Amino acid sequence: MRRGILSLLAIGALAASGTAACTANVSGAGSRPRIGVILPDSKSSARWETADRKYLAAAFKAAGVDYEIQNAQNDKSAFTTLAEQMITQGVDVLMIVNLDSGTGKAVLDKARNAGVATIDYDRLTLGGSARYYVSFDNAAVGTLQGQGLVKCLTDAKATRPVIAELNGSQTDNNSTLFKEGYDGVLGPKFTSGEYQKGPDQWIEEWDNTRAGTAFEQMMTAQPDIGGVIAANDGLANAAINVLKKQGLNGHIPVTGQDATAQGLQNILAGDQCMTVYKDVRREAAAAAKLAIALAKGETGVTTAKVYDRVGKRDVDAILLDPKAITRQNVRDVIDDGYVAADEVCTGEFAARCAAAGIK
Ligand code: BGC
Repeated sequence: MRRGILSLLAIGALAASGTAACTANVSGAGSRPRIGVILPDSKSSARWETADRKYLAAAFKAAGVDYEIQNAQNDKSAFTTLAEQMITQGVDVLMIVNLDSGTGKAVLDKARNAGVATIDYDRLTLGGSARYYVSFDNAAVGTLQGQGLVKCLTDAKATRPVIAELNGSQTDNNSTLFKEGYDGVLGPKFTSGEYQKGPDQWIEEWDNTRAGTAFEQMMTAQPDIGGVIAANDGLANAAINVLKKQGLNGHIPVTGQDATAQGLQNILAGDQCMTVYKDVRREAAAAAKLAIALAKGETGVTTAKVYDRVGKRDVDAILLDPKAITRQNVRDVIDDGYVAADEVCTGEFAARCAAAGIK
């Protein structure tokens, strides 16, 4: 009981100090949360609040464990404070989506020193000490993006298109893996002269506003851009908004990722070439299962090993398969129950949904 009150006071103090708009989700009122989760933000992708929080909570509830899910709202000091509070409260397991490897590592090391087991969720903390890593095969995500762009450019019969790249945050190891994936597909086409290498930029903090500014500058410097790799649906939407101003939306293929409602709408509108569907339900369920095993002092079952090139160690991991989504199979994401039809088929999208067989 005391711990529960202390934890609520701490959350209140943090919210009152204005460092971050954190939302707690504590089950088993008054009892000790055994598993603490810190999500990164709610702006770089809709997924963290609409999917990850929901499915992690569902998995913990189904298992009947006490848990707490917080969101650092892209604030590194709030991230650290939240982790310290969870460690002080005596969680058994800490699961984080790092904001960068440096802050992630500091928190993981503190947890380890306090005897708290740790999991890297979705993003690997380079040089970190997490016991497990659960994610999708992120290089495969990038490969699907590269192949998706090639398919759209082929369908559009583009000749020697200039390709622009809006990569994710450079401090997110996933961004590096996505880029490795799509550059693996596009590189040979640049070498052969089939495509032309255009502007290529990391977008700090996956920030959509920065992405819009960056793409605007790219279009000014190189007005003949003919294809855009955007590392997720938010960055894609930023590029599409710039293209719209020039009446070029729908003419220049743009990739994406996360199968967000907005991404699916942009695909249905013909403004976005593809997205990558990562079924976060499976990711959350796999991570929750490992967390519960760790909380019970058991060893979890993993299926892969991922090499941390900074820490020079293999990390036991679970890597799930991503799926490419185009206009032809947008339906699959909705039929799967990942995004609700009424989130996508609003206003002008009702008719587009009907045309795509979405009910
Ligand atoms: C995740 C993506 C997400 C991005 C921005 C990445 O680490 O894998 O799903 O779009 O972060 O939040």
